[in-house]
Amino acid sequence: MNIGIDSISFYTAQYAFDLEKLAEARSVDPKKYLQGLGQERMSVAPPDEDAVTLGASAAHPLRRDGKLDDIDLLLFATESGVDQSKAGGLFIHGLLDLPSRCRVLEVKQACYSATAALQLAAAHVRGSPGRKALVIASDVARYELENPGEATQGCGAVAFTVAADPAVLALDPEAGYHAEDVMDFWRPNYRREALVDGKYSTRVYIDTMLHCWRDYAGQSGRGLEDFERFCYHLPFSRMAEKAQVRLARALHAEADGKRIEEWLEGTREYARVTGNCYAASLYVALTSLLDAPGKDLAQCRLGLFSYGSGCVGEWFSGVVQPGYRQALYTQQHRAMLANREPLTYRQYEDIYHFLLPEDGADHVLPQYRTGPYRLAGISNHKRTYEAVD
Ligand code: CAA
Repeated sequence: MNIGIDSISFYTAQYAFDLEKLAEARSVDPKKYLQGLGQERMSVAPPDEDAVTLGASAAHPLRRDGKLDDIDLLLFATESGVDQSKAGGLFIHGLLDLPSRCRVLEVKQACYSATAALQLAAAHVRGSPGRKALVIASDVARYELENPGEATQGCGAVAFTVAADPAVLALDPEAGYHAEDVMDFWRPNYRREALVDGKYSTRVYIDTMLHCWRDYAGQSGRGLEDFERFCYHLPFSRMAEKAQVRLARALHAEADGKRIEEWLEGTREYARVTGNCYAASLYVALTSLLDAPGKDLAQCRLGLFSYGSGCVGEWFSGVVQPGYRQALYTQQHRAMLANREPLTYRQYEDIYHFLLPEDGADHVLPQYRTGPYRLAGISNHKRTYEAVD
């Protein structure tokens, strides 16, 4: 029985900040961001947008199209949680009016958690093929101003359903994973901005990727040429190129720049203009690839590498299903990205410095451009969300 991704939808904030403007403000050569990191723009979440609204907006088209009518498991994968106790997925469960017979929980392990959620959802479906699960990965990536990580900030969410006989991607049974207690990137509870040991984090990413590959290849017997494309967790889009070069080198494969580009083609376009989406990032890469024009990927095998600092990594794979393009939201994704509002540097800083009140009093938030849901305010320490007409 095939199990995997049956539908997939991506959402990002309606405001975008151009990295050339950031480079000017930071007196940095823009080529460092555009070429060195491979980033052009970052999505910026306004004060009335958070991981919950981004996630609900990503899942909205699936709800509208009746794809969530029979889910009985909702896993919300995020490291931008809005409450220490209540799962953010419950706000989404309410906003989308999902079935009450449903297990709902929030999962966290930095940017890796959506992959754990996908595998847990697949196991849930395997237990009884009539079951269907919804995974929502959603994050807002935030560093201190003037930190080297600033140019990699971004936000976005991907919602996908997991079912038997999937329309988009059938998962292979093999998965190679690796965990290690390291401090490469973290965010203590008392901080809004992540802390990162930047260069070290990229080294740990690569080492973890190679550990996971050895585990995956040992189970599957597959080599590089068994894959049409490779999707990577993209903290910044050039990370994929660095990882693929190191993988090819470790396998003594003949791989010049052209071959590396072929393996990654289509996977980085969305990340390049949204920035890091943490838990959603690998699935933004997957959506970007599936939406890409050109080669029909039906029956092609994709390799996927998920990385979460701290750290856990996983290599897994799947086969794209015939007719997959009919199950996608390609036009909607393209229109959303094309219609974002550009920010000036001053607007970017103003939004950055906005602090949600913590006094528990009643606060109504100003209305910005958002998707179908927004954070309307706070009352008696309770967040109130609302649908936007
Ligand atoms: N023209 C062209 N390229 C230029 C350039 C110019 N004028 N100036 C610099 N570059 C290149 C550099 O050569 C470098 O490329 P290489 O890596 O190929 O050498 C690239 O631009 C970046 O330059 P630096 O390495 O000097 O940049 P930096 O040290 O200031 O910052 C970073 C890079 C450490 C990745 C930083 O952006 C950062 O801390 N990011 C956040 C952490 C992160 O994303 N880590 C990734 C792994 S951890 C993870 O994946 C989890 C997660 O999501 C956070």
